[in-house]
Amino acid sequence: MRFAIQPIEFIDLKAQQQRILPVLERRLKAVLQHCKFIMGPEIGELEEKLAGYVGVEHCITMASGTDALLVSLMALGVGTEDEVITSPFTFISTGETIALLGARPVFVDIDPRTLNLDPTYLEGAITQRTRAILPVGLYGQCPDVDSINAIAAKYGIPVIEDAAQSFGATYKGRKSCGLSTIGCTSFFPSKPLGCYGDGGACFTDDDELATKMRLIRIHGQDRRYHHSVLGINGRMDTLQAAVVLAKLEVFPWEVSARARIGAKYSELLREAVVTPYIEPHNTSVFSQYTVQLNHRENAQQKLREAGIPTAIHYPIPLHRQPVFSGLDLQEGSYPVAESAAKRVLSIPMHPYLKEQEIRFIASTITAITVQSMS
Ligand SMILES: Cc1ncc(COP(=O)(O)O)c(C=O)c1O
Repeated sequence: MRFAIQPIEFIDLKAQQQRILPVLERRLKAVLQHCKFIMGPEIGELEEKLAGYVGVEHCITMASGTDALLVSLMALGVGTEDEVITSPFTFISTGETIALLGARPVFVDIDPRTLNLDPTYLEGAITQRTRAILPVGLYGQCPDVDSINAIAAKYGIPVIEDAAQSFGATYKGRKSCGLSTIGCTSFFPSKPLGCYGDGGACFTDDDELATKMRLIRIHGQDRRYHHSVLGINGRMDTLQAAVVLAKLEVFPWEVSARARIGAKYSELLREAVVTPYIEPHNTSVFSQYTVQLNHRENAQQKLREAGIPTAIHYPIPLHRQPVFSGLDLQEGSYPVAESAAKRVLSIPMHPYLKEQEIRFIASTITAITVQSMS
């Protein structure tokens, strides 16, 4: 087994920081000078730029991706006794925010190729209580939005796109976050567009929903110390907005670098493992580059020994999480999600990965899988 000569980062935030340092310093210094740490001018500037980037009327920044989901659900009036249909194969926030409002997450299984919500199960899951559909753009690829939107429209149900991992991706030429009633994203540091702490945003073309989300984000306050609806403290910090503004300047380049690296990995790994399937009408931002393979623990151990970090997104589907045991969903309820959870492995992915690192990672994985087959 060969070893990485230099440590390989799973996500290299330092390389990115070096590239944007002058603009980052200028942006942060401006905030330190004006001291408007809450709802400072960078918030409005970022919202305008992000709405323009996505191509929607409104962007409302939030304290995190989780708050973006929570505020969206609140703005749609989701509450006790309601049901929200979502994917069981996602990060906990997607299901957690539904349950926090007293509503019930109703899972439908995923497509075995994209690992995103499979719309063919949707109609069977819709009931009188369904208040929203919440698909996820897992690993950086949008779900089957046209099919989901068509079914939602037939039943008059709004759709929230959980685009925490797919911001920057396109679906049939349109940008993620602008594809349904509301799009939500996260600026968690490891996300394709990340800040240096927590942050997130909601996107919509609907004026009324935008107004509601702005209200809910600041304690339901419509004027100083006057609260017309129930809200939360869901604001994004000005300093974090300044970081995202700095990163936005290199984001289009980073999105293409991610696509190039993803394609290279797929070319090199095609024979060794199941590589991510990207629909021809989609572009992925490869928030994660996640392969599927057997004997995962063994592969992970060997990669660790070779100096290659990996991660599992996600080892337990939501319906099998202890927190959702009350839903009484047994093993076997969502077989595709359960099988994916046993086989997925994310390998280093960031826009600053070097050609020799990509080749080293791919050849190490190939050697491991060949060994485990013999
Ligand atoms: C699919 C998905 N939804 C929601 C979130 C929540 O975002 P945040 O960590 O910013 O709250 C994440 C973040 O990891 C995510 O991956």
